[in-house]
Amino acid sequence: MIALGSDHGGFRLKEEVKKYLQEKGYQFRDFGTDKEGSVDYPDFALQAARAVADGECQVGILICGTGIGMSITANKVRGIRAALCHDTFSARMSREHNDAQVLCMGQRVIGTGLALDIVKVWLESKFSGGRHCRRVEKIQNYEREK
Ligand code: RB5
Repeated sequence: MIALGSDHGGFRLKEEVKKYLQEKGYQFRDFGTDKEGSVDYPDFALQAARAVADGECQVGILICGTGIGMSITANKVRGIRAALCHDTFSARMSREHNDAQVLCMGQRVIGTGLALDIVKVWLESKFSGGRHCRRVEKIQNYEREK
């Protein structure tokens, strides 16, 4: 299950991502927003990121105008590694090296075609493990000690 979230600045791209996920047969839960009217991105980022942290969803995709507000907020949720990606290389690396469970993008930064390529690559990439486990564990240990 994929958690989706956006503010008004990411609403249109979230709708495009939903169409793509439907076509490809992915299951998702949309945490809103459900319109283009002005809202506050943390309200949606927190709900979707918590669903991933709690295990209700395996991964999440969050979209705002720049993706920055979504990534800052999602990374405040314990256990979440959110990656702001506007190219396919970073998207793949964020899964293979960082085991990111949340992808963030900015609707005002990239076009729909690139955004959907990023979603495809990100969903199809897997954590490489090995030496990267140790690095991710260091982040997890810090979170536990906090
Ligand atoms: C909303 O205008 C905009 O600030 C928001 O979508 C996002 O870009 C914040 O990081």
